[in-house]
Amino acid sequence: MTDAPHVTVDPFAGAVRKFGEPHPARAVLRAAGPIVQAEAPAGGPVWIITDDVLAREVLIHPQIVKDPAYAPASWDPRTAGLEPAAAAQPSLTTYDGPAHERLRRAHAPLFTARRMSDYSDRIAAHAHQLLTGLADAGGTVDLMADFTTRFPLTVVCDVLGVPLDRIDQAIAACRGMYSDDPEEVGAAMAAFGELAAAALSDGRDGLAVELLDRIPNEITETQLHYLLFTLIYAGQLTTDPSLGFLLARVFAAEGATSEATTIDEFVRETLRLHPPAPFSLWRFTSADVELAGVRLPARSPVLIDIQGINTDPGRSIGPDLTFGAGPHYCTGAQLAQLELRAVVEVLRSGFPRARLAVPLAELRQVDLGGIQGSRLAALPVRLRG
Ligand code: HEM
Repeated sequence: MTDAPHVTVDPFAGAVRKFGEPHPARAVLRAAGPIVQAEAPAGGPVWIITDDVLAREVLIHPQIVKDPAYAPASWDPRTAGLEPAAAAQPSLTTYDGPAHERLRRAHAPLFTARRMSDYSDRIAAHAHQLLTGLADAGGTVDLMADFTTRFPLTVVCDVLGVPLDRIDQAIAACRGMYSDDPEEVGAAMAAFGELAAAALSDGRDGLAVELLDRIPNEITETQLHYLLFTLIYAGQLTTDPSLGFLLARVFAAEGATSEATTIDEFVRETLRLHPPAPFSLWRFTSADVELAGVRLPARSPVLIDIQGINTDPGRSIGPDLTFGAGPHYCTGAQLAQLELRAVVEVLRSGFPRARLAVPLAELRQVDLGGIQGSRLAALPVRLRG
């Protein structure tokens, strides 16, 4: 049994780099081995998996769990960005084993490709309406400021049944989650509660109401609000930066040089190269575990380097890890891809002369730090050429 090699680069540092410039830590992590040790943002070691096969083993390992109750005792849950422990708050993202399976069974049938395809026309209509509004305002628009957050929130709220006059509230709540001020985060969570309650109110007929009928009986109304918060927030947090990268690639005409022959393939390729969740969410060992000859004591934090694995030049072709794998595979994968495809289609059909308002080389992406991904700082575009 050996120790995992320690890396000296900080894979969690915030930074600004050119769009498309590789993240400086990825190759270093990969070169160090299939499992490497770094300093966790909340202190102490974190074990990072850089190998595709080992990652898939970890993602189904019964003793590598999501429940923050197993986080290192020294971590401050707030600075570590941890959710409440599973015993305090049921969530797809913190439940493990049979409890997680039950919650998945409640959610999964609502988000299948077939169910989501029922919303295709509405999703395209939202994209068209929002882009038309921006184009009509004339001149240059920053799609990162005025489109990439609003569009996925409009879609996920519409699908869940949140009234669409509450989108500004949803945007403010999502932005509030980035605050360092616990009061602002508390206010954002309260706003999410109101959005959830609105989706469940009399006469609403979105998926929130269907979820209410499907969740296990012991789940309280407040706990259901949290489940709905997870869907809204996860639906914005990821699709928002992805839209920026996708649109930048469309404007850069990378479609012409990419291997993708269809819009779906172009979307998948973008997601593989620019996964909005560059690391998995936190996992922890619930007992001593051995991985690739390395012993991890109980309560060790483990992350999957999704971006590093997706872009590993030595990786054999197969499904990427953009949406994860195993029991926690992304619930919204079909919805997200539908949204991304719809935007490319609407842009091509409705705004054929749209172009970047600055040279591609001027686009910057901001690594937000920690396990958060990166996001284009701005995407200035002239929608009518
Ligand atoms: C491009 C867009 C998206 C990407 C790349 C993405 C990525 C991911 C990844 C990697 C995971 C697994 C995390 C882990 O195992 O540690 C995940 C889980 C999840 N995602 Fe997404 N996601 C996206 C969009 C969405 C949308 C639109 C929704 C909402 C409908 C959503 C809801 C969820 C939920 C609820 C989970 C937790 C599932 C579970 O733990 O069982 N995601 N996502």
